[in-house]
Amino acid sequence: MVMPEAPGDFRILPLAAADIRPLTALAREIWYQHYPGIITVKQIEYMLEQRYSPDAIRAEIESGAAHWVKLLVDGALVGFASYETSPGQRAVKLDKLYVHGRFRGRGCGAALARHVEQAARTPGCDQVYLQVNRNNFNSIAAYRRLGYEVVDEVKTYIGGGFHMDDYLMSKTF
Ligand SMILES: CC(C)(COP(=O)(O)OP(=O)(O)OC[C@H]1O[C@@H](n2cnc3c(N)ncnc32)[C@H](O)[C@@H]1OP(=O)(O)O)[C@@H](O)C(=O)NCCC(=O)NCCS
Repeated sequence: MVMPEAPGDFRILPLAAADIRPLTALAREIWYQHYPGIITVKQIEYMLEQRYSPDAIRAEIESGAAHWVKLLVDGALVGFASYETSPGQRAVKLDKLYVHGRFRGRGCGAALARHVEQAARTPGCDQVYLQVNRNNFNSIAAYRRLGYEVVDEVKTYIGGGFHMDDYLMSKTF
């Protein structure tokens, strides 16, 4: 794995209120780099509004529904992840894992996944799982390299006439 130039070049920190708008902009950029050809532009717009509007992110953080972290490279926001924990649950959901196209292949995604896996390692919890679009081949390949395996196929209605056609992948510690 090729890592960023020097240790300390990248940092993973909790998402602060001031980061929410920049993260919304980063998510939009990444989604338009990555998802055309996998889902329609209409579905991209619908899902960005549903999951990445500042209000949606703020609500998740304030309610504790999800933990959001940002990845900084040389101080610049280039990636993020979110994950969901519930007390007493055996598994943590890695809900979002995104790295800007220019920064991929340098260990950023692995660092974010490791961060989530470390947070998941609590007594009684031995698994992280995620859903990934079945046609998102590059990311499926990356997840496999990170130790995740496909355990099921899931089709979920998300409103607005749209479905997510996903694989369920998981990693047991
Ligand atoms: C998935 C994603 C987060 C990976 O981030 P990244 O910074 O490129 O990942 P890393 O550089 O840490 O690579 C992690 C491992 O995956 C491998 N990998 C990364 N991209 C790969 C690809 N396209 N094909 C095959 N393997 C890949 C790397 O080689 C590395 O494995 P190694 O350590 O054994 O060499 C990034 O590609 C991304 O943001 N994709 C678009 C958004 C997306 O689809 N997110 C997932 C939504 S469910």
